[in-house]
Amino acid sequence: MKYLVGMDIGTSSTRAIIINENGKLTASATSDYPLMTPKPGWAEQDPRHWWNASVIVIKEVLEKSGISPKDIAAIGPSGQMHGSVFLDSNGDVLRPALLWCDQRTQKQCDLIYDIFGYEGFIKLSYNKALTGFTAPKILWLRENEPENYSKIYKILLPKDYIRFKLSGIYATEVSDASGTILLDIAKRNWSGEILEGLDIKKSHLPDVYESDYVSSSVSAEAAKLTGLIEGTPIVGGAGDQAGGAVGSGIVTPGLISDYLGTSGVVFSYSDSPVYDSQGRLHSFCHAVNGKWHLMGVTLSAAGSLKWYDDAFGPSSEMKMKYPEEKSYKLLDIQAENVKPGADGLIFLPYLSGERTPYADPDARGVFFGLSYVHGQDHFVRAILEGVVFSQLDCLRLMNETGIKSDKVILFGGGARSRLWKQITADIFNTEIVTLNVEEGPSYGGALLAGVGCGIYSSIVEAAGKVIKEADEVFPNPENAEKYKKIYEIYKSLYNNLKDDFTKLNVII
Ligand code: XUL
Repeated sequence: MKYLVGMDIGTSSTRAIIINENGKLTASATSDYPLMTPKPGWAEQDPRHWWNASVIVIKEVLEKSGISPKDIAAIGPSGQMHGSVFLDSNGDVLRPALLWCDQRTQKQCDLIYDIFGYEGFIKLSYNKALTGFTAPKILWLRENEPENYSKIYKILLPKDYIRFKLSGIYATEVSDASGTILLDIAKRNWSGEILEGLDIKKSHLPDVYESDYVSSSVSAEAAKLTGLIEGTPIVGGAGDQAGGAVGSGIVTPGLISDYLGTSGVVFSYSDSPVYDSQGRLHSFCHAVNGKWHLMGVTLSAAGSLKWYDDAFGPSSEMKMKYPEEKSYKLLDIQAENVKPGADGLIFLPYLSGERTPYADPDARGVFFGLSYVHGQDHFVRAILEGVVFSQLDCLRLMNETGIKSDKVILFGGGARSRLWKQITADIFNTEIVTLNVEEGPSYGGALLAGVGCGIYSSIVEAAGKVIKEADEVFPNPENAEKYKKIYEIYKSLYNNLKDDFTKLNVII
């Protein structure tokens, strides 16, 4: 029996899994690290933390599985997208990476539009210039830290830095490279026109491959550190969203998924690149060879719940009643105590600005409709609902492009909550399906590895073989009707508050 390693270089932790060639999870390991916010709106991580965590989880997962490293047929990395790892000519990190949720680069996004024109840029990149993406981060470094900029030898994405540490090779793949907005999405390679316009050297970027292509292999040095065998093939892998979609079977037309992780992502497959002159959704290359995808991103999805948990935690009543339970389980029980609609409390989840549908780094979180009736349980329920309203914004944009489905596949941490699943079914007014595999990005990475080393003939074959629907939830018509009305208020709140968000940000 052959085995595959999948990795996910996430925002809060790195995870490694081993699956066998039938897709069965054999072992998993996770190692956490901090997120740094040196200023409001900034988000950074030290890439060396990702590497330390990667070594820990690879060693641990090999040990736990009890299999011989010789039986690892290939490795597939996936990871948080858009982060900028700046390396010098020794391969050393020049400064902490700016992450996908960092909002400091509005000025650089405006500069991109000045250079190409708003519609001109969307025509070239199929996407808007958004603060979270990589290109404006590179321009930020050039303007604000010219000394670091002058020392750049390569700019890598997070999982590609781990590939470099594992193999010594600088390489990326189409799905993650799309999130730099330096890619010609239709041609699936760097865009000469964008690079020239922004004066970014192509030699600073790694070569781009298809996601299932074996672009590197484990070096002797990394083998010694991790316990892997030198020469083990490493495929391109994927950005975490495309990887998660592959790991959830979104590899053929007509399927839509909803990922409830730190960020929330509505994702659909496409046979061809999708161009929208307003670039309302992200239009990227898929990790499926020669295919594309669309996605809409809520920056703070389960991230909003984590914020609540960190700031306030479950109620003392819950903690006393269930001292052994994890806090997310307790928060779920609290939210269940409240009726749909949270007695009029509405939450806007814009804790670190927003991407879709409002590309607005100044937007902030809001609780609206507060009265004496509201207690802690209401706040939790309002958060779960507000996040799904934001995902509905993304789903509606997707429907407007003509992509429709009579069900949505839900995965990510949020999919483990029965209540969040029901709220999603009610607010989307659509059947929600969960799967037999819950790993998402790391599982997608492992399947891509399986294609790269020839265990599967294609990702469609792999997904068809191992991914099955496990559970379904249907909308409750009464709740759906109520949420439809609340959604109208939810939508108007952003427009009413938009200018005040900007004014507030000037003051603080
Ligand atoms: C996708 C995005 C996030 C990150 C972190 O565009 O920014 O989903 O990849 O997971």
